[in-house]
Amino acid sequence: MLKDMYQPNPEFAKNANIGSMEQYWELQNRATEDYEGFWKSFAEEKIDWFAPFTSVLDEFNAPFVKWFDGGKLNVAHQCIDRHLDTKKNKAAIIFEGDRGDKEVITYLDLYYNVNKFANLLKEDFGVKKGDRVVIYMPMIPEAAYAMLACARIGAIHSIVFGGFSSEALRDRIEDADAKVVITADGAYRKTKPYMLKPVVDEALKGETPVKKVLVVERNNEEVTWVAGRDYSYNELIQDKSATCDAEPMDSEDPLFLLYTSGSTGKPKGVQHNTAGYILWAQMTMEWVFDVKDNDTYWCTADIGWITGHTYIVYGPLAMGATTVMFEGVITFPDAGRPWKMVQEHRINQFYTAPTAIRVLHKMGEGEPAKYDLSSLKVLGTVGEPIDPPAWKWYYEEVGQSKCAIVDTYWQTETGGHIVSPLPGATPIKPACATLPLPGIMAEILDPETGEKVGEGESGYMCITRPWPSQIRGVWGDEERYKSSYFGDVKKDGKPVYFTGDGAVYSGDGYITITGRTDDVINVSGHRMGTAEVEAAIKKHDNVAAVAVVGKPHELKGEGIFAYVVLKSAEGFADEVEEVKAINTVIKQEIGNIALCDDMIFVPDLPKTRSGKIMRRILRSIAKGEKITQDISTLEDPSIVAKIEAMVNCATC
Ligand code: WT7
Repeated sequence: MLKDMYQPNPEFAKNANIGSMEQYWELQNRATEDYEGFWKSFAEEKIDWFAPFTSVLDEFNAPFVKWFDGGKLNVAHQCIDRHLDTKKNKAAIIFEGDRGDKEVITYLDLYYNVNKFANLLKEDFGVKKGDRVVIYMPMIPEAAYAMLACARIGAIHSIVFGGFSSEALRDRIEDADAKVVITADGAYRKTKPYMLKPVVDEALKGETPVKKVLVVERNNEEVTWVAGRDYSYNELIQDKSATCDAEPMDSEDPLFLLYTSGSTGKPKGVQHNTAGYILWAQMTMEWVFDVKDNDTYWCTADIGWITGHTYIVYGPLAMGATTVMFEGVITFPDAGRPWKMVQEHRINQFYTAPTAIRVLHKMGEGEPAKYDLSSLKVLGTVGEPIDPPAWKWYYEEVGQSKCAIVDTYWQTETGGHIVSPLPGATPIKPACATLPLPGIMAEILDPETGEKVGEGESGYMCITRPWPSQIRGVWGDEERYKSSYFGDVKKDGKPVYFTGDGAVYSGDGYITITGRTDDVINVSGHRMGTAEVEAAIKKHDNVAAVAVVGKPHELKGEGIFAYVVLKSAEGFADEVEEVKAINTVIKQEIGNIALCDDMIFVPDLPKTRSGKIMRRILRSIAKGEKITQDISTLEDPSIVAKIEAMVNCATC
């Protein structure tokens, strides 16, 4: 037995969907022995098929795979229509606005709203099956209606996080060749209106594939309307019919794209398809959050990230749960806001990110104690490894030492959880994602040999068999799909899916994720490609060269540290001004999330004779570590000491 283990609450385990380790192993062994049989039985049980599938898994063209081929279904039907017989008056979405305004949307309301939205897209905008629709929206119920309306008519949505800049939005629109954008005038943040529509206007300047823009009027602030292009949702929706047939979709028809950072400058359009995605979204909701019929579940993510897709909208609604959507900021008006919401809505499952926990802890140490949090049963975290102090505070102060903490490890490409405790079964260990979920063949492999590493050893976090909710492709780039995920590790001579993360077996087969192995950094639980930030910084006229690395950050997990070589010192009177100017470019190119925490101007970068930048050295310097690497192969080894001196001076 591992030290520091926390056993599941026995009261909770009694009624849990998976209530013991015996049950866990029974499921996982079944999957190991009869992989297709395992998935076949769940697909048949969980999905309301329009037509049954004829094969379970087709690996003929691996790594391109097909799940449940021949089957017909519709995700909006799975998430809404099929619940109407038993839950039409149940709350599907509970919305809490930034200013405390509340709205309860029942499953029947949701049905009507989504149907009308779908009819609007079809009739007024000419959206057809297979068309790409970009959604650039705040956290309001209409964002969920928009997603489900697309799913209903077979359009492929691509949500762009509302914090991304017009340039980032334009890139994603162009890559997906979207003909429609759905947005809002703006929304509210800390009781004040903020705007989104002007960003869309900027993104659509010049040549664009976009023909029409739908604007949800949320804050009623003044916006520009381009005649023949921009339309008010609030007006058009008025006369729409509340019935709209759900398009029968093939199991492998695309459901959505979601762009994510990789190790090159250009974000990847991760493609998820219909049946496998919705099946696993639903199953993990049932297993990992153990949501019961009368429960209220709240995930604080934004719909612009995969967590918002799978665990605010698709997963909860597919299982017929009540999901909370929150427009506001969790630390406003004070760091007790989430706990006040838990008390008021009697929230049973709460899912957030380590960065949020650290902020809530730091800003509101004693806040949880002021509220009645007795409704809570399961607490979840996602996005980065959670540090033990944050884990402890979450467990003791928020969960009152009686809730399971599910440290869910997954990523945009996996569609749903991959490695996670089950709240009624798995003994948990602080800051450990524990075991692969039943049906997921996740293993830590030695990248050289492809062998599973031993206890206490670290290696690459891989998934050795295809799983239903896996990424189906990188939009428009088959090669990139293969090389990004199936190029690095081979097991028994066959390429397997590599997540990009390192991990270690930390006893009893438990998996502890140690972080990215590539040039991707994790800022507040979001992936940021260093190459993407570098490309943005290079757009500044006076920048000759730049290298970006991650540096541990107290609240964000990792912060962005940039080493910049300027073209000329001319006009460079003020370092502060130069930093500001470069940050302005980053803001325009990517958005506030990519702003640098540290920026230092250096005479040159440490490069090998062939011109390769030695990032490892730069990472060590940023962390204040001693340089242990051999620097004799550098073009100019003396640069290392110079940079070190500058960094020490700047941070001293
Ligand atoms: C990367 C995925 C999954 C939704 C949010 C981010 C890191 C995620 C954990 C965890 C340790 C984690 C990994 C992963 N990550 N969850 N529980 N423990 N690391 O989605 O932007 O696709 O980022 O986040 O590095 O690869 P994403």
